[in-house]
Amino acid sequence: MCQKILITSPIYYVNDIPHIGHAYTTILCDMLKKFHQLQGNDVKFLTGTDEHGQKIEQSAKKNNQNPQSYADIISMRFKKIWDSFALDYDIFVRTTDTKHCLSVQKAFEIMYAKGDIYKGSYEGHYCISCETFFTQTQLSANNTCPDCGKPTQIVQEESYFFALSKYQDKLLEWYKSHSDFILPQFRQNEVIKFISEGLNDLSITRTSFEWGVPLPERFTHSSDKKHIVYVWLDALLSYISGLGYAQDNESDMAYWDYALHFVGKDILRFHAVYWLAFLMSLELPLPKHIYAHGWWTKDGAKMSKSIGNVINPKEVVDAYGIESLRYFLLREMPFGQDGDFSQKAFIERINAELGNDVGNLLNRLIGMSEKYFALKVDSTQVEKYFVSELNELRHIIAQAVEKMSSMQPHRYIEELWKAFSLGNSVITQYEPWNLMKSAQTDKAMALLGLIANILAQSSLLLYPIMPQSASKIAHALDFEINAQNYEKLIKQGQLLDTFKLNKIPPLFPRIESPLLAESPTNTKENAQNKNTSEKIGLVDIKDFGKLDIRVGTIIECTPVPKSEKLLKLMVDIGESQPRQILSGIAQYYTPQSLINKQVCLIINLKAAKLMGEISEGMILASKDTNGLSLLSVDNPRINGSPIS
Ligand code: ME8
Ligand code: MG
Repeated sequence: MCQKILITSPIYYVNDIPHIGHAYTTILCDMLKKFHQLQGNDVKFLTGTDEHGQKIEQSAKKNNQNPQSYADIISMRFKKIWDSFALDYDIFVRTTDTKHCLSVQKAFEIMYAKGDIYKGSYEGHYCISCETFFTQTQLSANNTCPDCGKPTQIVQEESYFFALSKYQDKLLEWYKSHSDFILPQFRQNEVIKFISEGLNDLSITRTSFEWGVPLPERFTHSSDKKHIVYVWLDALLSYISGLGYAQDNESDMAYWDYALHFVGKDILRFHAVYWLAFLMSLELPLPKHIYAHGWWTKDGAKMSKSIGNVINPKEVVDAYGIESLRYFLLREMPFGQDGDFSQKAFIERINAELGNDVGNLLNRLIGMSEKYFALKVDSTQVEKYFVSELNELRHIIAQAVEKMSSMQPHRYIEELWKAFSLGNSVITQYEPWNLMKSAQTDKAMALLGLIANILAQSSLLLYPIMPQSASKIAHALDFEINAQNYEKLIKQGQLLDTFKLNKIPPLFPRIESPLLAESPTNTKENAQNKNTSEKIGLVDIKDFGKLDIRVGTIIECTPVPKSEKLLKLMVDIGESQPRQILSGIAQYYTPQSLINKQVCLIINLKAAKLMGEISEGMILASKDTNGLSLLSVDNPRINGSPIS
C-alpha cells in the first residue's frame, strides 16, 4: 500500500555555514526517503533554516548585518549546498517566511484557548548558544551551561508559559506504550528518566530582544511589553508550517500522519519532550519515530564552530565526490553512537570496500561475460546449480532490510557487503575459467547469472546509500532502479532471466594519496581568526577595487579552430596595441555581429592560454536560461574608460 510519509531533518541555525554534522543528518533523510520510495511510498522530505532568536541576532550584529539579510545569505548557503549534493528535499522551510510565522501564531492561539498557556514572569538562567532555559540546580559549575559548557545569562522578564507539567503523565504513558518510538532505544530510556524527574512549565515568550515571531495582536495590551515567541516553539512548528498548517492545507497535512524525525542527540529533548507536548496540546497526531544520532568528532572532540575543528563538507565533496562522502558517513558511524572523521579511514574504505569489493566484482562480471558470452548472460539455470548460494543471498537481503527498518544504516551496509562478498567468493570457489576449459559452459553461464543477480539485487539496496553508483551498476546490467523492480527482485525474490551487459568505466578509481590538505582552515587558530562574513562570501570594497574593469571596443573577431565555444577577439582599450582575448561565447554570437561592439572587460587578470592562444583579459557577460548576453554601457565611452 502506498503510504504518505514525511521525513524531516532539523532546521539548521543560520549562525554559521553548514558543516559535516549538518550534511550527515540531511544525507540520512535523503537515504530514508529513497528507501521508502523503493517500497512504493509517497515521501516528502522537509528541511530548512532556523532564523530567529538571540543567537542569530547576535551573529548578525557581529557581522554588521541586519538579522534578515544575514539570515537570507546563510539560508541560501544551506539550500545551495544541499542542491549541489543532489539531496532531494521537497520542502525548505525558513522560519522568517510569512507562512511559517502565521502557523506559529495559529498554534499559540489554539494552545491559549485550550488553557495551556498562561502569563507569569520568568527568572532563571539562559544559554544563548543552546537557546535553552536552565534552573539553578541544572547548571554546571560557575553557572555554565550543562549542555555546551558556555557561560549562561540571568534572565528576569515577563513571560508566557506553556503548561508542560500538565503533560508529564501523558508523555510517560505514551513512551510506555511505544517502546521503539525513539531509536536507538537506549535514548528513549534517557528521555523517560528526564520526564520522570519532573517537568517544569516552559517559558515560551521573550521581551528583552526583538528578533522573533511577534505574538498575535490581541496578546499585546498597552501595558504589555512586546512579546516574541521563544525560538524553540517557533522552530519546532516548522515541521507542520512547511505542510501548510496555517492554510489548513489538508492534502499536504496528510503527510503529517506518518512523520519521521531525524535529530542529533543534542536536540533530542526538545523533540522528545517539548514537541510531543505541543502536539498533544494542538491535538495533532504524534510522529511515528524520532531517530537520534550521535556526533561527528574530529580526533575525538565534538566538531563545533566554537572549537574550530569543523570539516567543511563542500571541500570533502569537491575532493572525493558526494557518493564517497555518503558512503563514508553512513558506514563509519554506528547509528546513535559518535563517529570520528578521519581522512585516512575515508580513503581506506573507498579503496577497499568500494573499489575492491564492488567495483572489481562488476568489472570481473563484465570482463568474463565479454570473453565467454559476448556480454550476454542467461540466468535460467542458476537455480539448478546454485541453490545454497541463492538461499544465502535471500537471507542476506532479508537481514539488510530488517536493519534499515530498525534504523541501523551501518548494519544495513554491512549486510549488503555480505552480498558483494558472496559474489566475489563464488568466483574464487568455482573458477569460471576452469569451467570453460572443462566444457561446463552451462555452469559457467549460470555462475555469471548468479553474480549478475547478486549485483542487481544489491544495486537496488545500494540505491539509498549511493544513488548514482547504484544507478550506474543497474545501467551496466541493463535494468532500472525503481519500485517495480524492488517489488520483484527484493520483495518477491525473483531472478532476472537474461542480461545484456553494458561496459562502463571503473566505478571507484583507486585513491593513491589524500586529496584534501589538512588545511589551516581546519585548525583552531584559523577558524577563530577567519570571520564569518568572509566565510559566507561577503567582500570588502577594497576587494572589488583590485579588479581593473574597463570599456573597450571589439575591432576583430574570429573563430578558434577546433573549438566550439571560443572566439578570439581583438579589443581596443585605448592602449597602443589591442588586447587579444579568448571568450567562450561562440554559441551565442557570430564573429561578424560583434565587430564595433563596446563591451566591459577585466584587464588585470593573469594571462591564460586556451587552445594554444593567449588570452589577456575577460569579457563580462550574464547568462540565464535564455542564453548569454554581453555587458555593455548605456552610452558610448572612450575606450579604456574605467568601471567602478
Ligand atoms: O539545533 N555531529 O540547529 P543546529 C553530528 N536550529 N550532527 C551534528 C553535529 C555533529 N558534530 N553538529 C550539528 C539546531 N549536527 C536547531 C534545530 S529543529 C526544530 C531546530 C546536526 O544548526 C545534528 O542534526 O545547531 C544536530 O541536531 C543539528 O545539526 C543541530 O543543528
Ligand atoms: Mg547546535
